[in-house]
Amino acid sequence: MAPSFKSQSLTLLSFASLLIMQTLAAEAATCTDCFINSRAAHYPNSDEQGTDSGACGFGSFGATLNGGDVSAASDLYRGGVGCGACYQVRCTSSKYCTDKGVTVVVTDQGSSHDTDFILSRQAFGRMAQNADAAASLLALGVIDVEYRRVSCSYPNKNITIKMDENSNPPHYLAFVIWYQQGKQDITAVQLCETHNFVCKLLDRSYGAVWTTTSPPSGPLTLRMLFTGEDGEENWVVPVNNIPQDWKAGETYDTGLQVNV
Ligand SMILES: *[C@@H]1O[C@H](CO)[C@@H](O)[C@H](O)[C@H]1NC(C)=O
Repeated sequence: MAPSFKSQSLTLLSFASLLIMQTLAAEAATCTDCFINSRAAHYPNSDEQGTDSGACGFGSFGATLNGGDVSAASDLYRGGVGCGACYQVRCTSSKYCTDKGVTVVVTDQGSSHDTDFILSRQAFGRMAQNADAAASLLALGVIDVEYRRVSCSYPNKNITIKMDENSNPPHYLAFVIWYQQGKQDITAVQLCETHNFVCKLLDRSYGAVWTTTSPPSGPLTLRMLFTGEDGEENWVVPVNNIPQDWKAGETYDTGLQVNV
């Protein structure tokens, strides 16, 4: 009797620990939505919006994107992969702050006093309950926050290609990608000759700027590799081509939007 009793309790014990492990795994799985504790500062400039020389390479678009609710990120910049990612940031003082906080887009790189975010002044103030609380928060300068990645949302916008002013057709091509919705990363970009689908992988020169010397010719088909938090990867191909006679400074509507 004794050995059989022992093995039964062992079975019960491992069953119980299996249950605990499953519960922990389930919590870890849903925790992509959990808030993470950190700190945030704001840009020292008198400008309410972001900077137009942000390390993501968005230019003046990066200052006013999302109505000016933008941020520099330190580790979350991720070598430029984090450019364009959206975060819900809320401060933790119940005296000053709302539960909702503010949703910002990463357009720059930077840190100050161990912060994960340096928000535009406007975004920083938006975490407050009212104008007086906003003034108090701004005066504090650096505050405790919680953040989590959220989907970006650009109603009535397609993903758009903005050719860099420094592009020199047809020898040197550089662009950034505007209005990417959702919460995935674009981790690789190819340009393909539309008529034969010969493709070339672009380089991330810095931030969100994709470049190539001697780009393919003719009408060009863009391919973007979307990578999810779970590592799942998908190549996405827009409807519209980039025209053969593409120009520096021009924007091209891809005819495509994503909600992942
Ligand atoms: C987005 O692209 C679709 C074609 O795929 C087009 O019909 C629509 O007008 C575009 N939207 C905007 C806001 O440009």
